[in-house]
Amino acid sequence: MRAFLLLTSLLPALFFSGCQKKSDLEFQRAHDPWVFRSVLDGRPRMLTAALNDDLWVAYSAQTGALYKAWRGSVNFDGAVYTTVHGPQPSSLGDDWFVNQFDNPWSVIRNGTAEKPEVDYKGHRFIKGQVHINTELKLKDGARIRVSERPEYVSNDNNQTGLERSFSVEGLPEGAQLVLDVNVSSIAFENLVRTDGQLAALKRTPRQAKGLSGIDLEGKLTLNSNGTTHLTTFFTRLPLIENANKVVGAEEEETRPLGYRLIQRNDCKTCHNTYVQTVGPSYVDIAKRYRNTEQNVEMLTLKVKNGGAGSWGETVMNAHHEVPDEDIKAMVDLHHEP
Ligand code: HEC
Repeated sequence: MRAFLLLTSLLPALFFSGCQKKSDLEFQRAHDPWVFRSVLDGRPRMLTAALNDDLWVAYSAQTGALYKAWRGSVNFDGAVYTTVHGPQPSSLGDDWFVNQFDNPWSVIRNGTAEKPEVDYKGHRFIKGQVHINTELKLKDGARIRVSERPEYVSNDNNQTGLERSFSVEGLPEGAQLVLDVNVSSIAFENLVRTDGQLAALKRTPRQAKGLSGIDLEGKLTLNSNGTTHLTTFFTRLPLIENANKVVGAEEEETRPLGYRLIQRNDCKTCHNTYVQTVGPSYVDIAKRYRNTEQNVEMLTLKVKNGGAGSWGETVMNAHHEVPDEDIKAMVDLHHEP
């Protein structure tokens, strides 16, 4: 038997429920916490940012280099969770693009290019956005500080966009800082916009999901000691198949709304689909209670007010700030053969 706690009704309510918290009004982040460090797709020390339901990005927390941008989410449990190696989060959903450059930076001085050494300096939050900081070290000891702020944007055509905003400090006089970039899932080259200097070097057509797109590779020269934006608007669907698809996880992908509601709340810090953690597993809860209106009502109240006693001594915190209809949707036990 498979059982899920997920949204089965009230789909229209979801669109409003996402903006309950005042502080989240500006940005609708797709996960709580929306920035986190973990292993991702088998890569150690990754920093993931759930910018929007349609746009997740991950960076290496060793080099600050972008790993990829995708639409979907991160699967924290399921088959992989129960392996002896513990949780191995993996990305769910297809990729807008996968960055091809492990060390994308070069510094041009007097016509020669130098690959700097990259020091990752961690991330910071400023006004609800995340900044990923690195320091580039040159052979002569000069240090350039680069901060990248990724953000979800959309345009009049409702296209999902990724805006990467770079600020640079300490670039030596006369030097140029160049970033190797590549993007996919774009319909036209002019859907990549920048106030820096982008030299396109390679264009490869790509057909997928009945859509045509281009893969574009190029070099972006950043504005010296200032801010440079690089904004990419994507095709209707991501054109790169996720190479890290977990067998069995596709199912969860087809239920993104219910999945997201649980993702947006703190439930997963104490609950897992299959194994007991702080609280009982969803499967165990679904096994104990039949899907009746009364049970859903009772469990909704329980989650709202918190408490202990049904499963042991451990207390579930109250969720007064979560709208009733959201809780109801999350505990609506959905049994499947
Ligand atoms: C701080 C940890 C924690 C968080 C966060 C949490 N739970 Fe729980 N949950 C528990 C514990 C512990 C129990 C067992 C309580 C008991 O024994 O009565 C529980 C029990 C439950 C039950 C079964 C209640 C019963 O009486 O059988 C449901 C349903 C549930 N949680 C859903 C949720 C949902 C939905 C969320 C997110 C909105 C959530 N939980 C967040 C710890 C947590």
